Amino acid sequence: MAKGFYISKNMGLAGLLMGAVAGVVIIALAAVYDKEKTKNQNKPVDGVTTVSPTTSSTLSTPKNPWEYYRLPDSLSPVSYNITLWPRLVVNASTGLYIFTGQSDVVFRCEKETDLILIHCNKLNLTLLSGHRVRLTGLDGATAPNVISSWLQVKTEYLVIQLKGKLAAGKSYRLSTDFQGELADDLKGFYRSEYTEDGVKNHVSDAGTFARKAFPCFDEPAMKAVFPVTLIHQRGTVALSNGRDTVNTTIDGAEVTKTRFEPTKRMSTYLLAFIVSDFAHITGSIENNNVLVRIWARRKAIAEGHGYYALNVTGPMLQFYEGYYNASYPLSKSDQIALPDFSAGAMENWGLITYRETALLYDPASSSVGNKETVLTVVAHELAHMWFGNLVTLRWWNDLWLNEGFASYVEYLGADYAEPTWNIKELIILYEVHKVFAVDALASSHPLSRKEEEVNRPDEISEMFNTISYSKVLYGSPCSRPSPTARFYMVLHSYLNEFAFNNTVYSDLWDHLQKAVLTTPGMSLPHTVHDIMNRWILQMGFPVVTIDTATGHITQKHFLLDPDSVVDRPSPYNYTWMVPIKWMKGGVEREQHWLLQETDRHVPMTTAGSEWVLANLNVSGYYRVNYDTDNWERLINQLTADHTVIPLINRAQIVDDAFNLARAKVINTTLALRTTRYLSQERDYIPWESAIRNLNYYILMFDRGQVYGMLQVGSSYNMIYQTFTVAEVLSFSHILQVYNQINAISFACRMGVERCRVLTSVWFREWMIHPNLKTTVYCNAIAAGGVEEWDFAWTMFKNATVATEAAKLRSALACTKVPWLLNRYLDYSLDPAKIRKQDCTSTISYIAHNVVGMPLAWDFIRARWSYIYTEYGGGSFSFSNLINGVTRRFSTEFELKQLKQFKEDNAGVGFGSGTLALEQAMEKTAANIKWVAENQEQVMNWFSNECT
Ligand SMILES: *[C@@H]1O[C@H](CO)[C@@H](O)[C@H](O)[C@H]1NC(C)=O
Ligand SMILES: *[C@@H]1O[C@H](CO)[C@@H](O)[C@H](O)[C@H]1NC(C)=O
Ligand SMILES: *[C@@H]1O[C@H](CO)[C@@H](O)[C@H](O)[C@H]1NC(C)=O
Ligand SMILES: *[C@@H]1O[C@H](CO)[C@@H](O)[C@H](O)[C@H]1NC(C)=O
Ligand SMILES: *[C@@H]1O[C@H](CO)[C@@H](O)[C@H](O)[C@H]1NC(C)=O
Ligand SMILES: [Zn+2]
Repeated sequence: MAKGFYISKNMGLAGLLMGAVAGVVIIALAAVYDKEKTKNQNKPVDGVTTVSPTTSSTLSTPKNPWEYYRLPDSLSPVSYNITLWPRLVVNASTGLYIFTGQSDVVFRCEKETDLILIHCNKLNLTLLSGHRVRLTGLDGATAPNVISSWLQVKTEYLVIQLKGKLAAGKSYRLSTDFQGELADDLKGFYRSEYTEDGVKNHVSDAGTFARKAFPCFDEPAMKAVFPVTLIHQRGTVALSNGRDTVNTTIDGAEVTKTRFEPTKRMSTYLLAFIVSDFAHITGSIENNNVLVRIWARRKAIAEGHGYYALNVTGPMLQFYEGYYNASYPLSKSDQIALPDFSAGAMENWGLITYRETALLYDPASSSVGNKETVLTVVAHELAHMWFGNLVTLRWWNDLWLNEGFASYVEYLGADYAEPTWNIKELIILYEVHKVFAVDALASSHPLSRKEEEVNRPDEISEMFNTISYSKVLYGSPCSRPSPTARFYMVLHSYLNEFAFNNTVYSDLWDHLQKAVLTTPGMSLPHTVHDIMNRWILQMGFPVVTIDTATGHITQKHFLLDPDSVVDRPSPYNYTWMVPIKWMKGGVEREQHWLLQETDRHVPMTTAGSEWVLANLNVSGYYRVNYDTDNWERLINQLTADHTVIPLINRAQIVDDAFNLARAKVINTTLALRTTRYLSQERDYIPWESAIRNLNYYILMFDRGQVYGMLQVGSSYNMIYQTFTVAEVLSFSHILQVYNQINAISFACRMGVERCRVLTSVWFREWMIHPNLKTTVYCNAIAAGGVEEWDFAWTMFKNATVATEAAKLRSALACTKVPWLLNRYLDYSLDPAKIRKQDCTSTISYIAHNVVGMPLAWDFIRARWSYIYTEYGGGSFSFSNLINGVTRRFSTEFELKQLKQFKEDNAGVGFGSGTLALEQAMEKTAANIKWVAENQEQVMNWFSNECT
């Protein structure tokens, strides 16, 4: 999560450069970073991302109201009249960029008080006739005098003590003048550079909320109306949440004043202010007056890169209007691509901000994967315009209510816009497997935390993790809408009741429960609250074991590392109410609810070759294990005719088996055998599922002798032959394309000579289909030497499309030449060569390469203190860096080095990588055990397979 002030480094020189220059983003206040999607098709995801457990906050109870992080409930804002003016003259002696502003906030006193607390961070309140603030009573109320006021730095308040009391039921106006800094030297900020047309620009970004732009009651439930005015350089365009209504030119000044229509009643974290000289294209929603615009650098717009987003926005908004049965709440929808937006996108109401790769699509150079990213990120952000923006969580502990929902609905919106892509099937790979991986750790956490557990800004940012995004809406019995369900109506009544207001999760359960009661033929064994609370108030998920000989089924909390210790108590003892959809003999049977630990004599017994398959289409959030005989029958069925088993379940059988093997529930050979049928598999999802799981084996073994065996594991060459023969570029369906990309990268990785030759030839002729660029670049650079590397580097430096630059930057890490890798590591710390925001991911790419891994590890150890000071500040990717570099670690020696590293740098610290370091040690220890226990089985299996 972050907010940003975007400022052009050269704006100080603007007077000199104006005319020749394009591409100036001055300021953008944007909140919490939203969705980060990483879909590097060729960098298999190894599953485990970092999730911080709750570190319970301070033990001592503060004495004064201003020492608490949460606002008291005595005041509530009504409207803010704000004027902001980014002053684009850098102060010569301090080198600071400054903005000035004025704000009049009207608030209502709910409970008598003589204290005003309002968020205010890093703002200098300029004297206003002797006071920091001016307080006026409205509608006949008299304002008490101010005794004293000060900034409470730790809790980020402006504290105002009054001589008398504010009266309950009365309204007051608080006026402030202030100035703030658009700088890069503040904690939580990062700054990076980009170049457009030879002009360097700066982007800086901060970690918390609107309180950095103006004093405000900065909590999501403190909704208000915001009439905004921006003062900006003439010739630039100002954007905010509302539509612009008046431009006035100030006489004698080189500035324009743009006033915006007041917003709807909304939360502060959804505000955005942007001044730029960007261009735009315009569309609309059919039969509707909503203005739809896509904004970006002039060049990108001129080259047509905004059209794909524009093309899908109209239909998606229309779809959501129908789905939510509520019309789009605003009069316009702006979406803007910001160069160097560090991650993802942010759903500011009416002015959504994106990084370029998430909004812009260049038909000439972008891949279908890039297109899918644009589609799904736009779908996600637009879904928030209702869920999240119109109806908002009351507090961040319920973040999943915003995010889980948007992450689900995005697939419906995307599917509507691209109906031929089968995009809904990908939920299992992109969401379910991702969250399974994290939620199976003892260090996971419940989806919903207590409101008191989430206070400080760092605790809030911890909530933005895989679990919040992906857990509950897949497979929980109520929230996964079947086509016939009354879910639409539930949403409609929920959105209707809470429009422009806030909710807690039980509000949603109430509406679902009402729907259950009023829908004929619908029944649940318990209330929605009973069922759902088990999924959100305790962490993790169960593995359901079905014994088809006895018909006994049991559930147990699934832990990836069976030796890990769960010290977080659960109010439900880690049991769940599990809806089990299942089939026997290829026929779906009546759903079974597993409501306790064990059910006996369920009719899941079989005879002969008849198999039982549970969790059909992975409609439930749990893993399934069977007795050995049923596993055998399933494997036989896959080999004989896999199409009898539903597609999603084919992927799931593989993923369950590999994870159950990691957890020592079944043996590794059994897991490997679930992949044997793949030579006949033509669908992407089961293949991708297998490849991701095999990737763990590759990481564990690619430095040792077993790897030789893996390489000749020729059954996997089948995929190569199937998907890369002759008509190599003829695939049109998106999932076939992904299969082809997997085929090429997996085959090259496994050392198939034909693959190496093919990719090198394409690279040399620089004739590469956009879909295949990432893998072809990587493999050609891996097979080549300095010539190929330098060529790719030049292309990287000259790339003007963000997606192209991203592909080259990851491919440059694929070389096998150590000195090139070392030089690239050096480049990664030189902001003139690699943008600061890309530093840690570049090092991670290098570490992903088996040759690069030890070099990157040495590099990090040698420069830790420098990297930490320069890059550690508030960057999310810091934990990814540690994860990236250590994920192959599987020897005692490496564990010792890690411990040493921790000890040596205890004084420097690890910042956002602290937990990742702990987890790295835990995972290394687990890897050492796993390798010792499994090496032989894996080697035997592959050597038998290959003969
Ligand atoms: C907001 O402030 C501006 C400038 O101070 C003033 O002209 C305008 O009338 C105010 N608007 C409202 C709605 O109070
Ligand atoms: C705010 O005030 C402090 C202390 O007077 C000063 O050092 C700082 O430069 C000021 N910042 C801005 C943006 O004016
Ligand atoms: C304000 O000025 C901008 C830039 O010239 C222009 O695009 C916009 O239409 C103007 N808005 C109004 C309401 O006149
Ligand atoms: C956008 O839609 C238009 C009209 O249907 C179509 O011609 C164009 O190719 C589309 N552009 C993109 C990038 O999808
Ligand atoms: C918001 O919801 C609360 C609780 O349901 C209700 O008391 C309040 O009146 C609502 N406020 C608005 C502005 O609708
Ligand atoms: Zn979101």
